[in-house]
Amino acid sequence: MFGLLKKTEEKTTEANRVAVDAPTLAPDLVRPDLLTVEQAKAMPLDQMTKLFNAHLNPGQYHFMKLLGFHKVKIESAEGMFYTDQNGRRILDFFGGFGSLAFGHNHPRILAARQKFQQENRHEIAMAFLSQYAAALAHNLAAIAPGDLDMVFLGSSGSEAMEAAIKVAERYQGPKRAKVLYAQNAFHGKTKGVLSITDSTLYQSEFTLVEDVKKVPFGDLEAIREALESDPEIGIVCLETIQGGGGIIEAPTEFWQGLRALCDQKGVLWVADEVQSGTGRSGRFFAFEHHGVIPDVTALAKSLGGGKTAMAAMIARREIYMKAYGKPSTALIHGPATFGGIGEACITAIEGLNIMYDEKLMENAAEVGAYLKAELERLMAKYPKLIKDVRGRGFMMGLEFQDFSRTMPAAVKPMLSLMDEKLKGSLSGFIGSSLLRDHDVLVAFTEYNRNVVRLQPPLIASRENVDQFITALDAVLGGGVVKIVTDFIKSQRG
Ligand SMILES: Cc1ncc(COP(=O)(O)O)c(C=O)c1O
Repeated sequence: MFGLLKKTEEKTTEANRVAVDAPTLAPDLVRPDLLTVEQAKAMPLDQMTKLFNAHLNPGQYHFMKLLGFHKVKIESAEGMFYTDQNGRRILDFFGGFGSLAFGHNHPRILAARQKFQQENRHEIAMAFLSQYAAALAHNLAAIAPGDLDMVFLGSSGSEAMEAAIKVAERYQGPKRAKVLYAQNAFHGKTKGVLSITDSTLYQSEFTLVEDVKKVPFGDLEAIREALESDPEIGIVCLETIQGGGGIIEAPTEFWQGLRALCDQKGVLWVADEVQSGTGRSGRFFAFEHHGVIPDVTALAKSLGGGKTAMAAMIARREIYMKAYGKPSTALIHGPATFGGIGEACITAIEGLNIMYDEKLMENAAEVGAYLKAELERLMAKYPKLIKDVRGRGFMMGLEFQDFSRTMPAAVKPMLSLMDEKLKGSLSGFIGSSLLRDHDVLVAFTEYNRNVVRLQPPLIASRENVDQFITALDAVLGGGVVKIVTDFIKSQRG
């Protein structure tokens, strides 16, 4: 059923032969062996695997296989649950790394998009004013505190963060363009923000921007020292809650001190809210917990309503106007071709309305506190397994004890055969078991392999939390030897 064209897929096809046999048509005009939408939807797992490895990311497949995630084909998703090819319902406590504030396929978001399509609305309106982009920018400015009023629309968190750093640099000028960032920061993988993403893996051997300086996260004195010793630093860029770093927060005194320090030194504070924003922490922006307002911020992930790619950089008006406010500077950074595309804007607009109508931030705060209390109960029950529970709202980190040096003797021979990434790290074994045996999906953490990230949709209920906690309790109750042994057995199966 699925004809294949490429060598990497190890087949020749009818379409290929037609291309050779048809003398009247230039070969590149002959329809290649294209799959249709219906074929894509119906594709069996073995074919997905083959195409993923042939054309997408074979290395990533290795990790999916390691954890057993490669056996799952998602057929549909609704609210808190995925449904796989066998009709199994999987509870989503992963939430697309924080991209699913409204759950999967929220009916109001679907309805808004369907109506928009039926009305033949336009998408790309670069030549004209867009009522949709204008309304979304209005909504974001209305939600954002203080004079965070000027909005740039894009499609990814990296793009929003690039825009944030650039607007700040334009304001400060080239002599104050140096950026201070934090240890374990994640701001994206595009070429610019890669320099302030603190990962040797991601930075690899790429050439980086040199005008950056790193300090420990949450260390006000280190920032003060850096600003005092280097007047070229004009920008401080921080995630309000570090996501990739393992759900790390700084106290209110830090943020208030940072605001005062930046004001005193004429430095701009850029708050990356790509993951912590759009209600995830129980407030729209996580910095609102601390009674301070940054100069520039960025949103993405859940802003797209779980249905589309949408990102925004929001800057104080004074900053934006100095950077791009004149006709001669207006086009220096924006607009982006797909920034403010119609259906993406109305999806975000509907999402923002739902956020308030359905009191999702209140739910994240309240049910998130319940989740935290339940996790703390498990930490008290399994102190040898759980090291820490942290975070707020539905941005929660669960850190397991590090077993790299203390794995029980019984499992050491088995572990010696295993992938380096898994050795000593309980989170992989436990995440794998949660999916395999308990139909629950959780997320891992880039920089700290002992941390599981819990970022369920903001619609999650106490019942959903109970299902998750019961599953986790069952996995932990088996103890380390069983957790590892079950994992090894699953690898053989
Ligand atoms: C805090 C933060 N900033 C930026 C990004 C980059 O976003 P994207 O992957 O959409 O480019 C991410 C993505 O995980 C993030 O968590």
